[in-house]
Amino acid sequence: MPIPENIIDQIQNRTDIVEVISRYIPLQKAGRNYKAPCPFHNEKTPSFIVSPDKQIYHCFGCGAGGNAFSFVMKHENLEFPEVVEMLAEKAGVKLPHLTSEKKELTSLANQLYKINELAVSFFQESLARSAAAKDYLASRGIAEETIKKLRIGYAPDGWEGILNFFQKKNVHGSFVEKAGLAISNEKGGYYDRFRKRPIFPILDLKNRVLGFGGRVLDSSLPKYMNSPETYVYSKGRNLYGLNFTRDFIKKQGYALIVEGYLDFIIPYQAGVTNIVATLGTALTVDQVKLLKRFANTVIMVYDPDEAGEAASLRNMDLFLGEGVNVYIAELPKGFDPDGYIRKFGADDFIKLTKSSKNLFDYKLSKLSSRFDIRTGHGKAAIAGEMLPTISRIENAVLRSNLIKKLAEKLSVDEESIRTELKKVKPDYTMRVYTVSTVEAKKDSKSAEKMILALLFEGGNFIQEVRGKLSLEEFKDSSIRDIVKLVLDISKEGKAITPVKLINYLENNDAAAILISEAVNLSETLSNKEKVLSDCIAKIKKDNTKDRLERLQDAIKAAHNSNDDGLVTRLVTEYMELLKGSSV
Ligand code: UTP
Ligand code: MN
Repeated sequence: MPIPENIIDQIQNRTDIVEVISRYIPLQKAGRNYKAPCPFHNEKTPSFIVSPDKQIYHCFGCGAGGNAFSFVMKHENLEFPEVVEMLAEKAGVKLPHLTSEKKELTSLANQLYKINELAVSFFQESLARSAAAKDYLASRGIAEETIKKLRIGYAPDGWEGILNFFQKKNVHGSFVEKAGLAISNEKGGYYDRFRKRPIFPILDLKNRVLGFGGRVLDSSLPKYMNSPETYVYSKGRNLYGLNFTRDFIKKQGYALIVEGYLDFIIPYQAGVTNIVATLGTALTVDQVKLLKRFANTVIMVYDPDEAGEAASLRNMDLFLGEGVNVYIAELPKGFDPDGYIRKFGADDFIKLTKSSKNLFDYKLSKLSSRFDIRTGHGKAAIAGEMLPTISRIENAVLRSNLIKKLAEKLSVDEESIRTELKKVKPDYTMRVYTVSTVEAKKDSKSAEKMILALLFEGGNFIQEVRGKLSLEEFKDSSIRDIVKLVLDISKEGKAITPVKLINYLENNDAAAILISEAVNLSETLSNKEKVLSDCIAKIKKDNTKDRLERLQDAIKAAHNSNDDGLVTRLVTEYMELLKGSSV
């Protein structure tokens, strides 16, 4: 639900970041700015700076940064619209009424939440009446107390149980279908989706019921039946149990990720409270982002077969892309977390998760047993799977360390790994560790950041960038996105300020950090025109260098395959490029 820009501006104008942040942490005056120990990481000397002039904050320790909106989002784990609502009220700005279409959709969502809530009570009552279902849950070791807490129920046998229940409440079958609880038949009627199954409701962070999963009582198939995608439920966007465990996850600083309903329930009941379940589907970026609000380290506890599969190994790279540290705990063959805890207990389980390997080491050891590491093809296959993972690590030192490790493991020289790495194009840039400025000065990323900083100077600087660089020349996709936005906005003749830009980007944390970094960077610059032309030149030079290197590889390959025509063409291109550059 986009909130009109002018409303956000109004709220922004009437909100003082110093006042907002002081509500959460005590700020100390330091020259024109204010400082404090950073609330987002542990530190003794304050490196968290709030600027009343610019209305932004930035932590030089952990790199966190943004405006008043992003601060509250991060501190309170709220979504952008929620923060807007909150700050609007404090600022005395009235939010516009929803349009009729939006009203309708909001009311449809509310209706579905209501239907789902009623369905929970129906399932709970049916459970109370079913000895078979109660026996089943007891046989799985689920205690009464847990059943109550997780609101577990039972869908009775028969085709019209829940439909009749809703009919008595004057809820039409079409709505029961919209909630995913009924399925329509050819005759225009409906029948219950969930039949003869214990039911696990899926709740969101506000404890609203989004959907359900139901398990068979025996070994028939399908084992689990789940709500379809509905207006309120989307399986890739939620994590089962997070509403119960978010605070524990935040406190522990890391989350255990399991796959199944029971793999959540049994550990949770046994006191392993920093846990969530993906419900058997491949992890999505949305889920990673959701979890990242509470912890930036995760331990995946999957059964060894599945966790070792190439697809799920690749899937785990998603975390690196979002700057989340990933570890993998491997259970003994034949066990899932539920079975493991039932046999060995929670203490053993926790111990096992603590001895987990990081994603890189885990992946490398899995691949080494899958491919023959002594042959050229085996080495290439392993490298092919490892390189995308490495390419997602932004920190140069860390990256270099991983390159060395991989080269050693494969007994090849580091240079060939580096060459191959250049061919990998990550689809998004990653922040795993914040690069210190000293370190960053050397690479073109810092030139790109510098340009971002200079764009805030406005007018001529924007024209210069627009005229001399094309967006493709920016390697860092996050910076590229922000630059594009700045250029677009300025084309419309609107003024650009860092605070505004952060709002444009809504709840994009990484972007907010980049912008606040850029603002701080621009303060340290003196001869800004000169810096800009240097940076543009640096980016161009790096791009040319990359292209030259790629051409060199291509020439080698063409040469090896005896394609003389291609070699000639590539060499010509290479010479042309070299002539026109100062590399
Ligand atoms: P598993 O097949 O590993 O089952 O599926 P499980 O969780 O160990 O089930 P129990 O212990 O026999 O009860 C893992 C998860 O994948 C989803 C469910 O969320 C399940 O918990 N799944 C599995 C389905 O959605 N449908 C299925 O048919 C099977
Ligand atoms: Mn199981």
